[in-house]
Amino acid sequence: MVVNGKTRVCAIIGDPVEHSLSPVMHNAAFKELGLNIVYVAFTVTSTELKDAVLGAKSLGLRGLNVTMPHKNAVMSHLDAVDSTAESIGAVNTVLNDQGKLIGYNTDGRGAMIALQENGVYPEEKKMVLLGAGGAAKAIAHQAAQDVDELVILNRTPEKAEQFVVERHRAFEVVGAERDISNH
Ligand SMILES: NC(=O)c1ccc[n+]([C@@H]2O[C@H](COP(=O)([O-])OP(=O)(O)OC[C@H]3O[C@@H](n4cnc5c(N)ncnc54)[C@H](OP(=O)(O)O)[C@@H]3O)[C@@H](O)[C@H]2O)c1
Repeated sequence: MVVNGKTRVCAIIGDPVEHSLSPVMHNAAFKELGLNIVYVAFTVTSTELKDAVLGAKSLGLRGLNVTMPHKNAVMSHLDAVDSTAESIGAVNTVLNDQGKLIGYNTDGRGAMIALQENGVYPEEKKMVLLGAGGAAKAIAHQAAQDVDELVILNRTPEKAEQFVVERHRAFEVVGAERDISNH
């Protein structure tokens, strides 16, 4: 593509971020779709996060992906956060909607789509989730809307217990009524 005056910019922010495959994947997708957008990676430290988000807004970046360690902290610098991201407590995608920065979390939905693309359909099944960290939280949020039972296995049992308590609370907020248990 030719970069010109109408080229829009998307970026991933994180620290570290140089290892990220996101620029390669997104630029390939933009090329395939014929979109005049480039995707770059910006190393942003925690102390720079607020300025980076405000800068992205001022410069009219089309969107941001957010990776570690900013997925939680970025939320307080956005204009709005959608209900799924709010419930998970983390944002991995920011859309610049005509100057308004809106945060989303696509981690859980992406994981469920990846399962389906590989012929795994968890609807009404028992699902075992390994881990109780940020990624597990996003996947649990999405999976709980489909599966009959969700089992959390984690190295640190206390974190699994806390995870289950928090997820129960979160599901009440979004109205899901599924079993979730820790083992
Ligand atoms: N869209 C994506 O593809 C996507 C999105 C998010 C994250 N990720 C990837 O998913 C991974 C997890 O990310 P996260 O944000 O969930 O991290 P996290 O919040 O730090 O959680 C890490 C989880 O792994 C467990 N763990 C860590 N070291 C372990 C060990 N040596 N033995 C057994 N369990 C161990 C932790 O257990 P304890 O509770 O016992 O510490 C915890 O459950 C990372 O590799 C990340 O890059 C991918």
